[in-house]
Amino acid sequence: MLAAMPAFSAPRDKPELGVKLWGIDFSNPIGLAAGMDKDAVAVHGWETLGFGFAELGTITPRPQAGNEIPRIWRVPERRALINRLGFPSEGMDAVAPRLEQLRKAGVSIPLALNFGPNKDTPLEGIAADYGALIARLGPLADFIVVNVSSPNTPGLRNWESPRKMSELFTAIHEHAGKLPRPTPVLVKISPDLERNELFRICDSAPALGIDGIVACNTTVAREAVGVSSPHPGGLSGEPILIRTRELIRDMYTHTRGKIPIIGVGGIASAEDAWLHIRAGASLVELYTGLVYEGPGLIARIKTGLADLLHRGGFRSISEAVGIDR
Ligand SMILES: Cc1cc2nc3c(=O)[nH]c(=O)nc-3n(C[C@H](O)[C@H](O)[C@H](O)COP(=O)(O)O)c2cc1C
Repeated sequence: MLAAMPAFSAPRDKPELGVKLWGIDFSNPIGLAAGMDKDAVAVHGWETLGFGFAELGTITPRPQAGNEIPRIWRVPERRALINRLGFPSEGMDAVAPRLEQLRKAGVSIPLALNFGPNKDTPLEGIAADYGALIARLGPLADFIVVNVSSPNTPGLRNWESPRKMSELFTAIHEHAGKLPRPTPVLVKISPDLERNELFRICDSAPALGIDGIVACNTTVAREAVGVSSPHPGGLSGEPILIRTRELIRDMYTHTRGKIPIIGVGGIASAEDAWLHIRAGASLVELYTGLVYEGPGLIARIKTGLADLLHRGGFRSISEAVGIDR
């Protein structure tokens, strides 16, 4: 069901928080990370909380239930979550009319749509799954995120290998080229990639029509990030903050800032967002921080960010991107 229009809206963002990327205007750089609103049911809520954009999904072509419950756990002593949701999705045909209605009514923030394949799609059908999603939902997206990094869909991360990624993005590019207007296509990567794999993705991105990188998804690491838990799945929140920042910095340095990065992982304060930006993220997103800090977090981050900008002598977010490389 479509969420009702908000009774009030977030105050207008300070102009210095604005970011222009891929020709899209973001009134602030703080986005909702994928997974929170998988079926695009609460878009007006994200606007009202003050997000600068929202990444909806992961949406799969056909509806699927995801893994059995329990499938999400808190690790409160580390302000972390572990999930093995496995892409529960109402499917693209349920999400499309909702987005069409939202577009007609007007949405004040850019919407990214995050796509993934169905669990039971055979290997040879994966590219076609992404193709179907782009054809059906691409016209309703401000930008698209190709998710090849969820640890909860068996085999999905294999598509992060350079050869498979090249194969996949050749197909994806073909479908995206048929959209009624040019729509940026980003890839979302895992924090568990080796540096050489990461750099190969960065190097091949321009040729593959990859317009940006979302770094990063949840990790399957436990010991390396000092978490011991019996639960399987992807770990998010504070334990991945530093790892994410290192990834952002390495990618920014390697590409000399040529490929826009959306930094996501562990953000729970203005300082966290600021340091991801300074490491090289043009925009940032969060999920777990919102769960632990509550809905007031977005306003607090924006106030804090504006403060950090002024104190550092920066006139805009874009001026600070990659300054710590
Ligand atoms: C419960 C849960 C579900 C998620 N589902 C998705 C998803 O469907 N697609 C996706 O690309 N990322 C998904 N993520 C990953 C987040 O988008 C994000 O990349 C990750 O949690 C790191 O950010 P955080 O530390 O701010 O949570 C999910 C994360 C959580 C905690």
